[in-house]
Amino acid sequence: MKNVVAVVNLKGGVGKTTTAVNLAACWTEIGKKVLLVDMDPQGSASLSIGVMSEGDELLDALQNISALPVVATVLPGLDLVPSGMALANAGLWHSESRGTDVLTRCLGQTEGTWDFVVIDCPPSLGFHTMNSLMACQYVVIPVETSFLGLNGLKQMAGAIQSLKTENPDIEIEAIIPCRAQPRRRIHWDIMDTLKEMFPRKVSPIIRENVSLAEAPGRGKPVILTDRISKGADDYRLVTLWIDERINGTEDSGINQVRQLISTL
Ligand SMILES: Nc1ncnc2c1ncn2[C@@H]1O[C@H](COP(=O)(O)OP(=O)(O)OP(=O)(O)O)[C@@H](O)[C@H]1O
Ligand SMILES: [Mg+2]
Repeated sequence: MKNVVAVVNLKGGVGKTTTAVNLAACWTEIGKKVLLVDMDPQGSASLSIGVMSEGDELLDALQNISALPVVATVLPGLDLVPSGMALANAGLWHSESRGTDVLTRCLGQTEGTWDFVVIDCPPSLGFHTMNSLMACQYVVIPVETSFLGLNGLKQMAGAIQSLKTENPDIEIEAIIPCRAQPRRRIHWDIMDTLKEMFPRKVSPIIRENVSLAEAPGRGKPVILTDRISKGADDYRLVTLWIDERINGTEDSGINQVRQLISTL
């Protein structure tokens, strides 16, 4: 499947799920159809979009290499493959050697037309993340702009690059500074370091914002719970930034988002 974006960081709590859900949602706002795949047994992306699941159907699909279970969501244009605790058992039955192309094959069996598939990964490099990395063309890495947020980032990026032998299409497309607090000096130090480490790959920042923290509890992306908020605007801008890079339309997008924001 084309335009598959995996949201990855082995560190926990950095904003992966918030990014996956709101990136997917903001894409629908500019007319794109999106499939959000929750590959985390925590099921946070599913809950954030108002869907509670045990994860049994997704586990079945992965076990049988069959079509993924797709459900509609509260947001027109956004479909979801829900996950839950059962998914923690995924991978137990597939041998190491052939276990990393399972999601790719399931996506191949899944009927539907989406402009983008966004995969939310758990904070570990096990079966779920490895399968996501094998199924995607684009990797986006949310990073906290804190000292510890940088720890292990270079090694992780190196590990992702080294997967090119098995998945030649894989590319780190964006480093997204999340939960950013630009009033703190450390923020700017970390931003400088990120830009040095990943030239031209650091996206606009996502600020720490209460609307983003509250939206999951209401089971909706921030563009539905608080459409005029810093959180919604930050994700709109980052979505456009990523969209332009993927589609190579470098000049139209930012104007599009400005127009969109001005109509709200
Ligand atoms: N920009 C933000 N402003 C405020 N709160 C945020 C922001 N981004 C994320 N959060 C909150 O921080 C917490 C962790 O975010 P999130 O669940 O997206 O991280 P994660 O990387 O997916 O975590 P995990 O590794 O457990 O899957 C959540 O409570 C979320 O609502
Ligand atoms: Mg998460």
